Amino acid sequence: MLVLVTGSTGFVGGYLVRELFSRGHQVRCLVRPTSPPENLKGLSVELAPGDVTLPATLTEACIGAGAVIHLAAIIREKGRATFPRVNTEGTRNLVAAARGAGVRRFVYMSNLGVTGPDPGYSFLHSKWLGEESVRESGLDHTILRPSVLFGAEDRFVNMLADIIRRAPVVPVIGSGNTRFQLISAAEVARCLATALEEGRFIGQTVELGGPEQRSYEEIIDLIIHTLGKRRLKLHILVPLMQPVVWLMERLLTQPPLTSQQLKMLDRDNIAKLDAVEEWFGFRPTPLGQEIGYIRR
Ligand SMILES: NC(=O)c1ccc[n+]([C@@H]2O[C@H](COP(=O)([O-])OP(=O)(O)OC[C@H]3O[C@@H](n4cnc5c(N)ncnc54)[C@H](OP(=O)(O)O)[C@@H]3O)[C@@H](O)[C@H]2O)c1
Repeated sequence: MLVLVTGSTGFVGGYLVRELFSRGHQVRCLVRPTSPPENLKGLSVELAPGDVTLPATLTEACIGAGAVIHLAAIIREKGRATFPRVNTEGTRNLVAAARGAGVRRFVYMSNLGVTGPDPGYSFLHSKWLGEESVRESGLDHTILRPSVLFGAEDRFVNMLADIIRRAPVVPVIGSGNTRFQLISAAEVARCLATALEEGRFIGQTVELGGPEQRSYEEIIDLIIHTLGKRRLKLHILVPLMQPVVWLMERLLTQPPLTSQQLKMLDRDNIAKLDAVEEWFGFRPTPLGQEIGYIRR
């Protein structure tokens, strides 16, 4: 099948394109002129210039595709790239283009924690509205909502590892009790491809997490241990971090933490422990087994 993938130049996209290839699909990637090409290097993908915020670019990208897997989204707002514009409108635009081009199958990558309209969490809210446009599209759709992802180029674990490497005292934001169920990005790519191929996923919204739930502080402890460091930890109240994160967002091109991520730290990010086994028939890899990639 010819599959149009958005977000192919991002973290998950690199795994997904390879997974689709390994299953014999042809892949067309929606790319912006500014998209970094590294993820797609050496792969014989078809490139479709486009941007989800520019509807006119999407119809041509969809023509001839048998399916769309929509990963493109932003976790940090910058200038005109806002959550409503990219995550919500961008999804609406793509759904409309897919329908217009006669594509029947649409797989949407959402996020764990998206459970309903919740304007207090603007990122999650924008993804909920994205989900709604997919559900209302009349397309044969599937929505996956994974927890935070890990893998060699991830942001979450690598960001914590960077802090732990540099700082003698490690800040633990908030109580440290918020629970996560980190899941391998490569395995989520496998789930996306399976969801695309198997009819039983049509109309389903599936929450995904790894095989264990760890608190934020337990993840920090695992990283300290993996790096072979000895570190003191200091709990910092979330309100004290708010001005720091606000400043980082304005001063740094790649802030380690965004206001929305800080806000989401007060909510558990967990799914059913056996969700992947139940839906996809394999046991996902625990973070502890793969985390060696941070020792670089
Ligand atoms: N990473 C996680 O832990 C995690 C967890 C759960 C769910 N998810 C979801 O998984 C998806 C992929 O996440 P990721 O971590 O791979 O994100 P990422 O590394 O930040 O990649 C984002 C991708 O979206 C593309 N994009 C952004 N704005 C666009 C636009 N206006 N038009 C077209 N493409 C655009 C980017 O293209 P450029 O290369 O041109 O910038 C890039 O390819 C997202 O929907 C995210 O919400 C991620």
